[in-house]
Amino acid sequence: PVLVVDYGAQYAQLIARRVREAQVYSEVVPHDTPVEELMRRDPAAIVLSGGPSSVYADGAPRVDSALFDQDVPVFGICYGFQVMTQALGGTVEHTGTREYGRTELGVTGEGGALHEELPGHHPVWMSHGDSVSKAPEGFTVTAGTDGTPVAAFEDVQRRLAGVQYHPEVAHSPHGQEVLRRFLHDIAGIKPQWTTASIVDESVAAIRERVGSRRAICALSGGVDSAVAGALVQRAIGDQLTCVFVDHGLLRAGERTQVERDFVAATGVNLVTVDVADRFLDALAGVTDPEEKRKIIGREFIRTFEQTARDLVEQAGEAGEQVDFLVQGTLYPDVVESGGGSGAANIKSHHNVGGLPEDLQFELVEPLRALFKDEVRRVGLELGLPETIVHRQPFPGPGLGIRIIGEVTADRLRTLRAADAIAREELTAAGLDRDIWQCPVVLLAEVRSVGVQGDGRTYGHPIVLRPVSSEDAMTADWTRLPYEVLERISTRITNEVAEVNRVTLDVTSKPPGTIEWE
Ligand code: XMP
Repeated sequence: PVLVVDYGAQYAQLIARRVREAQVYSEVVPHDTPVEELMRRDPAAIVLSGGPSSVYADGAPRVDSALFDQDVPVFGICYGFQVMTQALGGTVEHTGTREYGRTELGVTGEGGALHEELPGHHPVWMSHGDSVSKAPEGFTVTAGTDGTPVAAFEDVQRRLAGVQYHPEVAHSPHGQEVLRRFLHDIAGIKPQWTTASIVDESVAAIRERVGSRRAICALSGGVDSAVAGALVQRAIGDQLTCVFVDHGLLRAGERTQVERDFVAATGVNLVTVDVADRFLDALAGVTDPEEKRKIIGREFIRTFEQTARDLVEQAGEAGEQVDFLVQGTLYPDVVESGGGSGAANIKSHHNVGGLPEDLQFELVEPLRALFKDEVRRVGLELGLPETIVHRQPFPGPGLGIRIIGEVTADRLRTLRAADAIAREELTAAGLDRDIWQCPVVLLAEVRSVGVQGDGRTYGHPIVLRPVSSEDAMTADWTRLPYEVLERISTRITNEVAEVNRVTLDVTSKPPGTIEWE
């Protein structure tokens, strides 16, 4: 792999993604990883990332200069460019002038391997206080800016290079090309990390690991569990059983999407557990949001546990073991929880909650090395339909937390009908990829007076909550076109008897959350 050494800013994961976009496999490692440990992983190259520190600050992270004696290609970015300069005997100055944001880069001379034939002046994204004033010996300076005479250098012989700017962000329009040149031209790495190769390698690894034993996978209806299930199915076929818990809080069409579309695309063994009544009973009389969430979580775990036990028992009678539980854990979760190499016995399940300790599964996490965009591409490669692969997020507790008030069968029917209309119209308007998601909420305890035909109505309001977001941590309300809002409003009030008013939530997050409960 290419190892991206994380100096503590939010950029390391983005760099790792960009490296993969250049079709080279990459992983993020902490900056205190010793050189021997880095080399033990046989890196094709090492990228030193940006970071928030000043190289002059006490305790600022460094790079061990022994790294540069290993004959491994190294690329320094921003802070990584500066620690590299220091380690190799160049000069970093604490100038006190900061360069931040869009800056014009001037290419020096022919531009060297990294910048040759790029426009002589082009914009790059900067974010730094200290600057390199003198490149280490043997390096050619190939670009600068007004504030930073040394903004890029390279020593092609030794396969070492670096840039002061951030090539990984979209604000550096030639950044990806510069990164690509380092990886392919300077480091000499062959671009072989493709969706097809990801699938092939994963399938081989899963086969090797599972052998002739059996695995189960809980499908949530979301992208990650679907792609994880499809990959494992590709590898071990009928040795996998997928379990889908229908808790009655799903939206229109979701069960069909799993039972028909997912099965058609994969040929997977599917067990659907229909437990809507059990969930409704458990939710009767409950209005507190946290209590609802707890009940739904608890019932979900119980249902899955019971189903897993039944499957294990049946398989046992047939002389087969169920040893593996498939999970859709993604690479960002792995990095954020401090790396680690997986495969521990399960105590708590990320999506499903805690499984009982007497059901000891080994985890199979085929997406552990992948970013979300790669997961989607793998899904398409495996033949999953767009409706599954580009599905917007939907909360585990489902419509249960979108009915404000007690959850009843009638109210679920009302909300499901309104939600289906909103989704249909958003899709018809081609807006699915523009919005992050659009919860539709039923204010079941609020009523208002209306008039329809000649009659007075006394119905419930529906709230539309369209949001735009990068990661759901923050969000803004989406400015949907009025015509689309109008169509949704007209259709819902005409077609859903209980609803006589449609309202729009124009609150950002914070202060609002995306969901109402
Ligand atoms: P909030 O409401 O916290 O939601 O702004 C952030 C994102 O998380 C989704 N969400 C959930 N997803 N289980 C999930 O799998 C949950 O319990 C849950 N609650 C909220 C929500 O739809 C939004 O995308």
